[in-house]
Amino acid sequence: MAISGKTTVCGVIGDPIEHTLSPIIHNAAFESLKIDYIFLAFKVRAGEVENAMSGIRALNVHGLNVTMPHKNAVVKYLDQIDPTAKTIASVNTILNKDGRLLGFNTDGVGALNALEQNGVKPRGKKVLLLGAGGAAKAIAYTLSQEADHLVILNRTTKQASDLADLLKQKFNKKINAGVLSPTVIKDNLVDANVLINATSVGMKPNANQTPIEPEWLKPDLAVMDIVYNPIETKLAKDAKALGATVVSGVEMLIYQGAASFEIWTACKAPVEVMRKAALNHLLKV
Ligand code: ATR
Repeated sequence: MAISGKTTVCGVIGDPIEHTLSPIIHNAAFESLKIDYIFLAFKVRAGEVENAMSGIRALNVHGLNVTMPHKNAVVKYLDQIDPTAKTIASVNTILNKDGRLLGFNTDGVGALNALEQNGVKPRGKKVLLLGAGGAAKAIAYTLSQEADHLVILNRTTKQASDLADLLKQKFNKKINAGVLSPTVIKDNLVDANVLINATSVGMKPNANQTPIEPEWLKPDLAVMDIVYNPIETKLAKDAKALGATVVSGVEMLIYQGAASFEIWTACKAPVEVMRKAALNHLLKV
């Protein structure tokens, strides 16, 4: 795609940013739809978020992804924030609409689409969510509206209970919190239908780690690990070996990216192109 004076600029801000997959996924998508957009990565240090927001207004950058550690820090510089992002105080997508900065969070809808597009329907089910960090919050927000019972377990219990309290108040649903310990995980898995790992356990270079002992898994469980590097985590391998349904972290990565892409372009995201670009890249690293 030739870049010209008319090319629309999108990007991602974060620190570190060198390993982001967003430019790979979005540029492949822009090219496949032959739309005149380009996507860049911007390293923005923690103290520079306000300047970065002024910069995107001044330079008329059209859309941004926001990644660690800025998802919360950007909130106060935006003009409007969607209900998900507002409740969890975490923005991963910004649209610059005629100088007004609109904030969204596509992680929750990305997780739900990843599950549903792979045949897993959390509606009315018991969902066990491991983690209460940035991604887990967005997933909990979306899935608490779908699931019959959501259990959030985290190493730091207070973060899980604060999140559960916030969502219980908002949605009046059955939501419990607890510590991420072997006994609590094991007990909760007995009647769980869907397990989501939203901790970083199992991520490279610790690819031999898993938050779940293989013998606690069962064939009728659907398992999604949001870790995508390695492409197949130990948890995913163990679950697959048992015959459980497994949804890869690449799927969540793609579907949250697809939702952001649709916000910026108002075009249907070419999910297959995005998946192929991500997988090609991940297979090389
Ligand atoms: P992300 O944006 O990917 O969600 P994050 O906000 O840093 O990243 O969240 C990381 C999650 O992984 C948290 O739930 C964290 O637990 P704590 O809140 O207790 O820190 C969890 N996590 C990270 N390393 C872990 C480990 N070794 N064991 C268990 N949980 C871990």
